[in-house]
Amino acid sequence: MQAWRAACLAFDPEADHPIVHYESDGLLVAEPQSDGVWRVVARGPYAALRPQWPQVPVHDWRGRCIAPGFIDLHVHYPQTDIIGAPAEGLLPWLQRYTFVHEARLADPAYAQEVASFFLDEMLRQGVTTALTWATSHPASVEAVLEQAEARGLRWIAGKVLQDRHSPDGVRDDTEGSLRETEALIARWHGRRRLGYAITPRFAPSCSDAQLQGAGALAAAHPSVWVQSHVAENVDEVRWVRELYPHDRSYLAVYERFGLLRPRAVYAHGIYLDEVDHARLAATGAAVAVSPTSNLFLGSGFFDYAAARRAGVRLGLASDVGAGMSFSPFATMRAAYTVGRAAVRGDGAAKAAVSLTPEDLWWQHTAGAARAAGLAGVVGSLAVGSEADFIVLDPEATPLLKRRCAHAASLTEWLFAFIVLADDRAVAHVHVAGQPHNFTQRPSGRNEARA
Ligand code: GUN
Ligand code: ZN
Repeated sequence: MQAWRAACLAFDPEADHPIVHYESDGLLVAEPQSDGVWRVVARGPYAALRPQWPQVPVHDWRGRCIAPGFIDLHVHYPQTDIIGAPAEGLLPWLQRYTFVHEARLADPAYAQEVASFFLDEMLRQGVTTALTWATSHPASVEAVLEQAEARGLRWIAGKVLQDRHSPDGVRDDTEGSLRETEALIARWHGRRRLGYAITPRFAPSCSDAQLQGAGALAAAHPSVWVQSHVAENVDEVRWVRELYPHDRSYLAVYERFGLLRPRAVYAHGIYLDEVDHARLAATGAAVAVSPTSNLFLGSGFFDYAAARRAGVRLGLASDVGAGMSFSPFATMRAAYTVGRAAVRGDGAAKAAVSLTPEDLWWQHTAGAARAAGLAGVVGSLAVGSEADFIVLDPEATPLLKRRCAHAASLTEWLFAFIVLADDRAVAHVHVAGQPHNFTQRPSGRNEARA
């Protein structure tokens, strides 16, 4: 058993909106359970809790803040090495850089090396769980899940399905791809803290037979995740309309193949209409809002007001490598900016919203967990949940220190982090109660702990 004393930020794990629990002088107590995973056994004011746990060793981190590890709902680890590759839009970007680069992951040694860097970088930035894309090569899934297992992470990944409109080197074959997916599910899903995601790249890159097979696997394995892209870019949406003239919408294609259900997470979702939003809400499928990616590729601005009106589950995602940063602070900052926009990207108007810092933070922690079917497991620091947490340092940079000192409320303090913070503000990362030992050289004040 172990305890940590600091300010403590936590969320209600089940609520469909942010309910914050904050202690300025808090105590978090965790201990290993029968499965070996450390879970939170108590969380609350130090003065009230300490007498109940007098024997437990306490790390004194006063002046800092414990918070749930961030959850990234959509990220492509193989694209780590193509962040910032400029293109006129999604489809040229995929052709010119992405498919060309992803072909390199056919080399298992390269996949291992990228996966290792990627996981350490995610952790360094404070991300402790992610829905991760590999490539179409099964060994690329093995690489990232093996290394996630070695780090004790709750992590989800999947082999990309793309049997058409894809170049040699990444294109897979229909039957083989489904057999490989089934074998990867059997090998990885539910092993330690790992999960598998059935991963059709997007409707244009999958034949009917491949989508049908993906839907059959999704039905046979309800606890397995599904991840894909939807309605990201106007040219992409037009292309889907040409390829699937009989479907009501892009999202309807996925629904026809049984791919809308709880634990199905669709990135982007900019060009959805009211009916699409209602179908997402009714089926329990979620949207991974990916604002830095949408800004980088000029895809458009997510319509929070419309999605929320319909009750769509959503959370935040970096979508690296179209995304511009691994940092959850950068993603929350971009989400705020995008919320303020009054246009969608195709000429349609949308309501400008002013997302609160509590809401943005929730979308990257407990809200993301709820969207992905992991409520109460990670993302909240609720009692009973897994002890994945970060320790924030409000003095990480001179400006952050100065601004935090002037914060008149928790709201202002959180906003200071969203606007000013980066990896330097993540002083420690704990995975299932254990301090993560950064194997990379930290760039800032991350303190590697043995
Ligand atoms: N649509 C299909 N593949 C991709 C991808 O790799 N990134 C993004 N942003 N959109 C996609
Ligand atoms: Zn993506």
